[in-house]
Amino acid sequence: MAFFHVLLSWTSQALMLLLFLLFIAFLGYCLYLKHIHMKYDHIPGPPRDSFFFGHSLTLLKIMNSDGHVHDKFLEWTEKYGPVYRLNFLHYVTICVTCPETTKEILMSPKYPKDLFVYKRLFSLFGQRFLGEGLITATDHEKWYKQRRIMDPAFSSLYLRGLMGTFNERAEKLMVKLGENADKKTEVNMLSLINCVTLDVIAKVAFGVDLDLLNNTSPFPKAIEKCLKGMLYYARDSFFEYNPKNRPFIKEVKEACHLLRSTGAKLIQERKTAMQNGDDVPKDILTQIIKSAGEEESMTQEDEEFMLDNFVTFFVAGQETTANLLAFCIMELARHPEILEKVRKEVDDVIGMKQEISYDDLGQLTYLSQVLKETLRIYPTAPGTARYAHEDLVVDGYNVPGGVSYSFSSYVTGRLEQFFKDPLTFDPDRFHPDAPKPYYCYYPFALGPRSCLGQNFAQMEAKVVMAKLLQRFEFTLVPGQTFDILDNGTLRPKSGVVCTVRYRDYKK
Ligand code: HEM
Repeated sequence: MAFFHVLLSWTSQALMLLLFLLFIAFLGYCLYLKHIHMKYDHIPGPPRDSFFFGHSLTLLKIMNSDGHVHDKFLEWTEKYGPVYRLNFLHYVTICVTCPETTKEILMSPKYPKDLFVYKRLFSLFGQRFLGEGLITATDHEKWYKQRRIMDPAFSSLYLRGLMGTFNERAEKLMVKLGENADKKTEVNMLSLINCVTLDVIAKVAFGVDLDLLNNTSPFPKAIEKCLKGMLYYARDSFFEYNPKNRPFIKEVKEACHLLRSTGAKLIQERKTAMQNGDDVPKDILTQIIKSAGEEESMTQEDEEFMLDNFVTFFVAGQETTANLLAFCIMELARHPEILEKVRKEVDDVIGMKQEISYDDLGQLTYLSQVLKETLRIYPTAPGTARYAHEDLVVDGYNVPGGVSYSFSSYVTGRLEQFFKDPLTFDPDRFHPDAPKPYYCYYPFALGPRSCLGQNFAQMEAKVVMAKLLQRFEFTLVPGQTFDILDNGTLRPKSGVVCTVRYRDYKK
């Protein structure tokens, strides 16, 4: 009996001690939080929703009501100026729109990608996702090694060689649209274009023929699920602890697993071909294998690393371009005079030709302007974040080091101070003779960590748009919204539903 008394007393003492330690830890954290607030509170910013959660509740509320957080960032910039502060627990980010600081930070390799943001994309709910691939690698050496190896697959010489694939896949889209032309069938342009951009990246990067316009595949849904999962996982730290989200999380993990297991199979097949001395293309897949290390000494981590990049290219190389094209069609359909001008250029440069050449693309300058203007109002990958260890002076504010900086091309693209009448769609802003925007327009990011696929995306977009303009009239089905859906990337909420008809060349 005495033994149980002693045991009981020890247990309750241990419990008391534990509670005491927890209390001390909590108090310590509160003091630390207070210290962080004091360190950065001289920088303007919206009032915090709560001492602990900072501004995250406002942002979560927007996300959960299907809203679009970048509009909030725009509103805050207009209210608090070119540098303002946001808090999330002990994490602070400084949102910046002033061109000088944008230039200083984004153009320099000195400021790595912010670990807090990009680490969240390493895995999704415990399933490895983008890992340490090109987008998410925060260590400069590790990133630089990958980028150097990957660069040849994006050289202009190599990209020229992709014109055949761009033409061939875009042609399949034209056939599909042709099937619906003149029947008054409503066509969801975004979903058709998504099939094309996914087909292109699968073929060009990995030598896989998906032909999604004619076949079904679980891939588009898997990518969509991962992107949605990425959004919740990255922006809401508590999402995974809510039991009601379990079915969704299970689907996201399965989708992620599907991408990685498909990647593993393709990589294995390519490695075998390389070992057998077969003639393999110098495509992204080959470069991914090269970037992972020597065959003999390849570790499990190297294998995972290759899969990181496989997933990275599928995610980065497809959705953003598809959304750009859908937004572009939406804006052209709303602006007949711009549509007429760009169509005239296509007629002058391409005429009735079916195969568009690399040199033709160079002559489609007004189409380039239209695509640039689309990305100003709708930057499909809207932001990026860097980390500064050292103190900086930003627009007159001393910002102590150890903080993250956020940049949003969505916000800068819609600020009156940089673009007059920012909501007016006007491709002439990007006329070759117009002054170049100074560090306030960066839909492909800037500096060393800018988009590797920028030229790839522009070529692909131009081929698809040129063929579309050459052959079809498209009209927006009335009553649809022009709102933006924030899915991590930005996309048109309506899907851009159109009716299409063959052009009447007699007109
Ligand atoms: C309109 C289409 C596209 C847009 C707007 C876009 C935009 C961006 C942006 C803003 C970043 C920086 C992301 C960050 O800082 O977190 C980025 C990075 C990247 N993008 Fe794109 N992208 C597009 C198409 C593509 C395509 C087609 C590919 C590949 C075929 C691609 C591959 C990459 C890669 C590999 C990176 C990481 C680069 C690095 O850090 O070295 N992107 N892209």
